[in-house]
Order: sequence, then C-alpha cells, then structure tokens
Amino acid sequence: MNDRETLDALLAKIEAANTAYHEHDAPEITDAEYDALRREAEAILAAHPEWRDDAKALAQVGGKPASGFKKVIHRTPMLSLDNVFDAEEFAEFIARIRRFLGLKDEALEFVAEPKMDGLSISLTYEHRQFARAATRGDGTEGEDVTANILTLESLPRELPNDAPDFIEIRGEVYMTKADFLALNASQERQFANPRNAAAGSLRQLDPSITAKRKLSLFAYAQGETSKPVAQSHWDYLETLRRWGFAVNPLSRLVKEAGTETFQAEMGAERAALPYDIDGVVYKVNDLALQNRLGFVGRAPRWAVAWKFPAEKASTVLEDIEIQVGRTGALTPRARLKPVNVGGVLVTYATLHNEDEIARKGVRIGDVVELQRAGDVIPQILGVFKRGDGQPYKFPDHCPVCGSLAVRVDDDVVRRCTGGLTCPAQVVERLIHFCSRGAFDIEGMGEKTVREFHDAGLLCGAADIFGLPAHEGEIAKREGWGEVSAAKLSAAIAARREIGLARFIFALGIRRIGENNAKLLARHYGSYAHWKEAMLAARIIGSDARLELGSISGIGPAIAQDLLAFFAEEHNLATLERLEAGVRVQEEHAAAIDSPLAGKVMVFTGTLTMARPEAKARAEALGAKVTESVSKKTDFVVVGEDAGSKAKKAAELGIEILSEQQFRNLAGL
Ligand code: IVH
Repeated sequence: MNDRETLDALLAKIEAANTAYHEHDAPEITDAEYDALRREAEAILAAHPEWRDDAKALAQVGGKPASGFKKVIHRTPMLSLDNVFDAEEFAEFIARIRRFLGLKDEALEFVAEPKMDGLSISLTYEHRQFARAATRGDGTEGEDVTANILTLESLPRELPNDAPDFIEIRGEVYMTKADFLALNASQERQFANPRNAAAGSLRQLDPSITAKRKLSLFAYAQGETSKPVAQSHWDYLETLRRWGFAVNPLSRLVKEAGTETFQAEMGAERAALPYDIDGVVYKVNDLALQNRLGFVGRAPRWAVAWKFPAEKASTVLEDIEIQVGRTGALTPRARLKPVNVGGVLVTYATLHNEDEIARKGVRIGDVVELQRAGDVIPQILGVFKRGDGQPYKFPDHCPVCGSLAVRVDDDVVRRCTGGLTCPAQVVERLIHFCSRGAFDIEGMGEKTVREFHDAGLLCGAADIFGLPAHEGEIAKREGWGEVSAAKLSAAIAARREIGLARFIFALGIRRIGENNAKLLARHYGSYAHWKEAMLAARIIGSDARLELGSISGIGPAIAQDLLAFFAEEHNLATLERLEAGVRVQEEHAAAIDSPLAGKVMVFTGTLTMARPEAKARAEALGAKVTESVSKKTDFVVVGEDAGSKAKKAAELGIEILSEQQFRNLAGL
C-alpha cells in the first residue's frame, strides 16, 4: 500500500469507530487502538499536509487536546552508563568485571560503538508491527512520541517473521551536523547544538513540525523481549541490521587489548564524522556474561562509556557566589566572563567547597583555566594568570540569613546553622518537596514556591496542602486568575496520596536520596512502621537502632542523619501536620518468589563462583548478605577451606549449605 491508500484505510477505520462510539454508544475498539489509528494517520498527514482536507474523520471528534505527551512505562528500565575518562579508569572497569566473574586468563571481548550525542529512544514492536516509541524520561517512565517517530523514514514499520512477538529495541535519535546547521540557518530560533535541536524536534506536540526537521536513528541496545534473538551483542546488532535498522557502521568487535587503539582512532576521526559523538561505549559481547554481570544502581556492570578528553579554555573569574542548599550547605560557584568551551557557552563553573578554592589558589580577578566534559558542570583547573585580587576568604556566616556557618568534625562542607530560620533552606526544601521525584506537584515549580514563600503563604511543607483553602487569594495574585488557581488546587489534591519511598525522599533528609528512600520504604513497608522504628531507634542500643544498622546499603552516616531528623521537634511537628493532609501508601517489597527472599546469609571459604557474583546473585533474589555469623544468620554457604565462620555457624546451629546447594536454591 502506498501512503495515500494507507491513509484512506486508516480514515475509514477511524470513521467507523467514531460512528460506533458517538452514534451507537457502542465502541468497537479500545481507546488505545483508536489512539494508535489516529496517530498513524497524523503521521502520514504530517508528511502530506495537502491531504488534510480529506481527513474529516480526524477533525470530527473532539479528541483529547494534546496537553502533553502520554506516559509510557518501560517494561525494562532504560538505564544510563558509567563514564571513564582515561586508560587507567578503563582498566579498572575491566578489572572489576574480571573480579566479579572470577576470570583468570581468558580475554574478554567487547563491542565498541561510538557514543552518539542524541537522545535515547525505546521502540516497541508487538506482533512484529511497530507499536510505540517512548523517550527515556526518568528511566522507568517516558513520554509517548510515537507520532513523531513515525515521521522518521528510516524506521522499520514491521519486522520479519523471525522477530519475537514482543520486543523493545533501544537506540539514539540524533541530528547530523549538516541538518543542524541547515535548521539554524532556516529559522530565528537558534539551537545550541545538534543534541538540543534533536530533543527540541522530537518533543514536539505537533508531529508535522518533527516531520520538517531531519532526525536520524541508530539502534544499539535491547530492552524487554519475549524470546532471545542472539547470543552475543555483535550478533544482536547484525540481526537489527537485517531487520532494517540503521546500526552505526563504525561499531567494531574488539579484544581487550584492542580497546585503547580503537579509542585513539575514534578520537582522531571524531571531528570528521557527520554527527557528534562524545566517546565510545564498550559492551561485553557475550550476552550470557552480560546477564551474569547485571547492574549496579542505574548502570550496567557490563558496559561503560569511555569519554573523550575534556575540552579546555581560559577566562576571567569575575566573582565567587555562595549558594545555600536544602541542608544548609554553602556551595561556592565561580561566575565567569562567558567563554565558549567546545561549542557550549560557559558562564558558571563549580568550585565544590572551601578547601578546593584554597587548594587551587584561585582569586577573584584571576584568569582561570577550565574544562568541560560531557554533561558535567564545567570545572576550574587552576590559575592561568594571576590578577590583582586578594586571597579569597570563605564566609563564616550564611549569606542569606546571617547565621553562623560552621564545619563539623571533618566535613569539607560549611553549613549554615540557621535551620528552618534560614529562608534559603526553607525554600530549597519546599522546592525539593514539590519536585518530580518527590510529591511531583504540577505547577509548584521553583518560581511559584519562591513567590508563595515570599508572600507568606508557604512556610513549610505542610502548608502546601493548605493552599487550596487560599484559592481565592491566589486567584487574585498578579499572573494568576481563577483558572490557574483552581488548576493548582486540583494538582495538589491529586497528590494527597503518595508512595512511601517518594514520601521519605520528599522530606529532604540529608543523604536520603531516591535510592536510600527506596531501601527504607522496602524495609519498613508502611509509614507508621517506619516512623515508629525511627522514633524507637533514637535510643542507643535499642533493637530498632540495630535493625536500622542492619539494612543493606544504609551505612552509619546515613543512619545518623535519619536519627538527627527525628531528633528535631519541628520535624516531628511537620510530620504530624502532613499526616493530616496526606495518605502514604504502603510499599510492597519487590515480591520475590525465592527461597532466599528475606534471608540473612554469609559466604565463607573459597567458592568456584567469584565472591562478588555470589553476593550479587543472592541479593538479587532478596537475600541480605553479611560478613559475620550471628544469631540472625539464616544460612552459611561454605566453600573450600572454610574456617572460623563455618565453625561458629555449626555452634549456633545455623543451616550450612554447600556451594552446590546454594546454586540449586538460587536456580543457577
Ligand atoms: S547503551 C544499558 N550504546 O548514552 C545501556 N548508549 O550515557 C544502555 N548512548 O542513555 C545504553 N550511544 O542515550 C548505548 N552506542 C550506545 C550509545 C548510548 C549513545 C547514550 C544513551 C544512554 C546514554 C548513557
């Protein structure tokens, strides 16, 4: 079928669906199917605007206005990569893999691929038909950009018979340097680089705009699949090629020993390539090994991005500004005379902390050397030419509230002691509370939080849930109005229910980021249980304190920060007020159906499997692996030459497993 015939067929189906829905009140297809038909028709019309007049079926229904993109949950999360910057760091990456797998002399094989500087995309095929495309988003949930991706001519619309029933194929959407220059030349709006241009073009609610921008695609990774398609990554790429995907022709199969040469070659070729790359990705070729290596946090153990050396420049350090964060940390940043570093205009650079400024000896007025690597905030390397400024003296008072700022013990960070009397800390906490990973309240961004704080409407987190009561007052504020105020109230009401992990994260406790909040939520399960345990843990030596110390991943410093939070009356008061406005849902521990779930295990002696892998396997099945044997230990896995731990286990009557028994339990 040509495009016109496809369009006509789609329009006929849409019309039939409209009639069934509106005139007979009897829908014949699901909303999702209906949306898919419309999206596909829109994509064709985007390429052929001259046919729009014929597409009355599309105009006929007041479909939901595109207020944004639909959300898509990735069946397999879209992860990121760890970076290395030199041969030494790369060698560590390899050494880590070898240790994990317990490899001796066998050389590893890698697929080396240029690291495209674009945006990652997940393409889902169902029954070999292209079904949808989603951006990475936060890795778990992305935005549905199907209609926009359909404007890419190079996208295979269907897969051959040997493809699985369900498969997610990942890759990068990018814009070539030539298309980027042509786009900027054709319009007033100037994109800073091809990456931004690609992102701006893909995230268009109107696919006809995307259609006019030239986007390209390289496929390079797998997500969920209903049946394995290859045994090595190299074969997987071959399969993708055969299925019609563009796969970067510069990708190579390299032995461990060949990686450095490849890196140098790519570095030399980089400038002449038709698209931007910022490094090379090295992936363990053998998929069985990839599977054994698994993931740490958000990145695979089996791959790494070896970035090209940072780009350098020098400019004048105009000022050192101090920012006060949510936990009172005073963070210096350098304000620079704007300078172009590798295609990006840089005005600020990080100075990390007080000691760093002293170590580098930078003074206001100096010409400093700076570097920028990838997305990282530019860094100052040191003084290039001394100006006539005095040595910099770090403030010992908070620049916002004037309270004393101190360094406790060996902390490199100086902190404002003002706590909640410091407006900077209050505002930063509020911003954090409403942010995406926390309560995610639409419309309560940084600007609104500052506005309401300054107006006295918001003093602390619990006030947020009282805002709807002030809807009338908000509506009268400049720039607001009844509609926006009502919308804000609705957005707040929609967030009165929240998962425990998000809730804990939202509190903004020092060192409790998203990961630690998840660990706590999974461990304690419910808000009531968590709170009760934290209050009880304030007592030294209590069971609750010991339990907190036993949670894998929660070290003593983190525990200390949690207890410090619960030691403050005003935090307890905030919790109580929040309890009145919010319902915290229970967190269900990842339901792991395994005989090891929840068990405390110790490995001892020499196993055939390397220790890190054994530990990771056990943890993946829900076990907690500890170093020493105690009454709480459920199993001790004993290898060759086991010593005192095996003996102690026997004395305490703890179940002892051989490595084979452990493998059987773990299904290995
Ligand atoms: S593989 C689980 N391969 O780099 C591994 N990523 O820094 C998934 N990227 O989000 C990524 N070129 O957007 C992979 N050849 C390549 C890549 C590549 C560019 C991007 C991708 C990813 C980011 C991580």
